[in-house]
Amino acid sequence: MEKNNNNRRIFIVSNRLPVTVKQKNGSFEMTPSVGGLATGLKSIFEQKNCIWIGWPGLTVHSEADKKSITAELEKLRMIPVFLNTQEIKKSYEGFCNVTIWPLFHYFTQYTDYDTRMWSVYKRVNQKFYKQLDSVITEKDIIWIHDYHLMLLPGIVRKKYTLSAIGFFLHIPFPSYEVYRTLPWRKEILNGILGADLVGFHTFDYARHFLSAVNRLLDIDYISNQLVYRQRAIKVDSFPLGIDYETYAGGGRSSKAQKILAKYKRSLNNYKVILSVDRLDYSKGIINRLKAYQLFLKIFPEYREKVTLFLIVVPSRSKVPQYQQIKVEIDKTVGEINGKYNTIGWTPIHYYYRSFNFEHLSAFYQLADVALITPLRDGMNLVAKEYVASRNEKAGVLVLSEMAGAAAELDEAVIINPNNIMDITEGINTALNMPQKEQCERLISMQKKIKRYTNQYWAKDFFDRLIDVKNLQSSMEAKIVDQQTLDMLLQKYRSAERRLVILDYDGTLVHFSKDPQKASPDRTLLRLIQTLAQNNHLIIVSGRDKETLEKWLGKLDNVNLIAEHGAWSRDAHGDWHLIEPMSDEWKREIRPVMDFYVSRTPGSFIEEKDYSLVWHYRKTTSELGKIRMRELTETLRYLVVGLKLQILEGNKVIEVKNVGINKGRAVSKWIQRITPDFILAFGDDKTDEDIFNEISDQFTIKVGIGTTAANYRVKAPEDVRQIIEKLIGEPA
Ligand code: UDP
Ligand code: G6P
Repeated sequence: MEKNNNNRRIFIVSNRLPVTVKQKNGSFEMTPSVGGLATGLKSIFEQKNCIWIGWPGLTVHSEADKKSITAELEKLRMIPVFLNTQEIKKSYEGFCNVTIWPLFHYFTQYTDYDTRMWSVYKRVNQKFYKQLDSVITEKDIIWIHDYHLMLLPGIVRKKYTLSAIGFFLHIPFPSYEVYRTLPWRKEILNGILGADLVGFHTFDYARHFLSAVNRLLDIDYISNQLVYRQRAIKVDSFPLGIDYETYAGGGRSSKAQKILAKYKRSLNNYKVILSVDRLDYSKGIINRLKAYQLFLKIFPEYREKVTLFLIVVPSRSKVPQYQQIKVEIDKTVGEINGKYNTIGWTPIHYYYRSFNFEHLSAFYQLADVALITPLRDGMNLVAKEYVASRNEKAGVLVLSEMAGAAAELDEAVIINPNNIMDITEGINTALNMPQKEQCERLISMQKKIKRYTNQYWAKDFFDRLIDVKNLQSSMEAKIVDQQTLDMLLQKYRSAERRLVILDYDGTLVHFSKDPQKASPDRTLLRLIQTLAQNNHLIIVSGRDKETLEKWLGKLDNVNLIAEHGAWSRDAHGDWHLIEPMSDEWKREIRPVMDFYVSRTPGSFIEEKDYSLVWHYRKTTSELGKIRMRELTETLRYLVVGLKLQILEGNKVIEVKNVGINKGRAVSKWIQRITPDFILAFGDDKTDEDIFNEISDQFTIKVGIGTTAANYRVKAPEDVRQIIEKLIGEPA
């Protein structure tokens, strides 16, 4: 397959292709892959412009075999990434399935941290990139899936800076306290953040991810949006659904009906409980068996009346923990059957194999109860498939609260999978549930599953991905490009009385956790000094006058405005208050802020002549936000009648006298100088007063966010570059 510049194509990239290739009698055979990812994406992949890149599931040594597999897969719009023995062992069976899988499912006792495995994981992600790079163009949509490829979005982004890249994690994202134990936690977050849209099955997983990004990378987020390397990214939940109609109609197919009839004949009207999972310790199969055993013990009347169909699909059989759990399952099933078996009755029908769709549909039709009790599960599609298949409006779903699906299917009998008795009672409740109630619960669940299908899921994800791209372009719209810069320089050169207004923090320098550490560097001082030689120049800051004087007071021709406009000073002159004002109010406000400092570790108060500022930049983000809201509420109540204003700035809350703002201070200067050209830079809310005051001039906002400024640059480095251009020009 080749690059194609004519059409926009969708590339799905996942570790496993939706088909698994097997070698049989000298030729290759393809079978559908198991697992929620493969089944969930199947119908989306039916779109003709969709291409799937992934591992075909076997080791291939000869080039000739690789060629013939590639050719076969190409007919199905699939591109193979061949992994060698070491890559399978160290990355797939290693880093993916003994580091990430257990850790993200909260099995820290099974988690192995091994640097060698990590380095092969990185190499495998590069290998996927190489394949992708050989076929994509910048206009294609790239949708990367799951924990095997968490570095890939970042790798792709390096070359394809404008591409629409989505990432979806099909397993839980653990809470920060668990995630932080991973030695490569930052690299993985940086990898995922190469995407424009990051999706999870549930809101909780998305919340955990945002919290990890915030704490580990120190990136703040507002609702579900953040800015990473100057790019807006959205993080959200998209619960994967199923192809509803296929399951709802599945049981009616003649093949399924035949299979169903066969089972029914052999079952003597027993009630059927169904359990279907890949073999995985995260699925809680042992606890489920123990609960069933307990059920038979404490409800003997159900013996010879009920039977459990235990379907365990082979999975990751080379990984030791999976081998171990298989032994345990075999043993427990043997014990239960050994203990309760009678001539005509087998308590557990155990199948260690996978079934095709018709067979599975027949099982779903057959089962009076589906017993789905994972200890952790990203979503669990089997639960949804069972509900969709229940045409007769009877059947009960017993579902673990630890499955992502439980967030949607709250009409199920919800149990805690660590509580054996709870599962046992769940089985009993299910078997005794009146038909009417079963029907009501099913209808309600079916309604939800019918609406949020896997097609809807994919469309929702793509629509949102396009929204993010639009958001990014709208942010780019005002960006100072070469054309704007030329126009700016031309107007600058032809003007006679020029005024340049510069905010300091966030505009000329980046924010620092400790405000006193944000002092100007030498280059900056030189830039300001040179700019001031041929222009009227004012630095307008929220800082106190002492700091401004210490840092910038020695520069010639540099005028200063401090405390957001309360004080102003001509170059080398004295400070003047903009108008007489009082600071009596501090006595009342200060104790309240002190109280919040003691309740919020890392926060502190900055006292200026006519304002008080509560800083929370050093506080953990969640706590900072909560306390900020509380404090604002309290202050709002207190300032009534005191002629004060409360200002929410960048990680600060400031209380100051009404009427003091940067716009007003600047307008006094404008009246004095009557400039014919004004250029103003600023980054936060307090600078908006300046932008509004001189809306017909060159106003430039630094960073993202809504603004009244006419133009935008991304960071302080861009401001410095523009200044360099200005001072490079002859006056
Ligand atoms: N499945 C299958 N054949 C089987 C058993 C299961 O095709 O014999 C499918 C099942 O229909 C479901 C998927 O495998 O779509 C399992 O997905 P789930 O989300 O429940 O669990 P995962 O395996 O992804 O952890
Ligand atoms: C889960 C994972 C998938 C994976 C599937 C089967 O659903 O989220 O990414 O493909 O299990 O596991 P396997 O290791 O066989 O690919």
